[in-house]
Amino acid sequence: MKNVFYGRMKQKRSAKERPIATRMAQIAALFVLALSGAVGSGAESAERITQGKQLTMDRGKGNCLACHKIADGELPGTLGPPLLAMALRYPDRGALISQVCDATQRNRHSRMPPFCRHGILTEDEVELIVDYLYTL
Ligand code: HEC
Repeated sequence: MKNVFYGRMKQKRSAKERPIATRMAQIAALFVLALSGAVGSGAESAERITQGKQLTMDRGKGNCLACHKIADGELPGTLGPPLLAMALRYPDRGALISQVCDATQRNRHSRMPPFCRHGILTEDEVELIVDYLYTL
C-alpha cells in the first residue's frame, strides 16, 4: 500500500514537472527560431534588393532607366520623374506596386508601360523592384 501511494505521488509530481520542462523547451525553440528568422530575413531582403535592382536596370525587363533618373543608373531618360525618396512619397506599398505593375490604373494616359498587363514583368518581379525602389 505504502509503495503504491508513493508511486502515485511520484507520478503526480513528474506529471506536473513535465509541462514546465516542455514549456522551457518551447521557449528555447522559439528563441532560436526568432534569432535564425531575423538573420535569415536580413540576408533574404538584401538578396531581394539586388534582384530588384537588376530587374529595374535591365534593358530587356523593367528598363525603368529609359524614362527615369535612378541613383547609380547610367544614361537615364527624362520622360518620367526621377525615382527618389520613395518611402517618403509612397508610404502605401500597394500604391507603388500598382504604379509599377500598371501605371494606367492611376493615369489612363500614362506613357509608362503597364508592365504586368503586357506580360513584361510578373507580380513577383514587381515585388522585387518595389523592394529596391524603397531603398531610393
Ligand atoms: C516609357 C517611359 C517609362 C518607363 C519605361 C517607365 N516609366 Fe515610370 N513613369 C513614366 C512616366 C511618364 C511617369 C509619370 C506618371 C505617369 O504618367 O504615370 C512615371 C511614373 C512613375 C512612378 C511614379 C513617380 C512619382 O514621382 O510619383 C514610379 C514609381 C515609376 N514610374 C516607376 C517605374 C519603374 C519601377 C519602371 C520600370 C519597371 C518604370 N517606371 C518605367 C514613364 C516610364
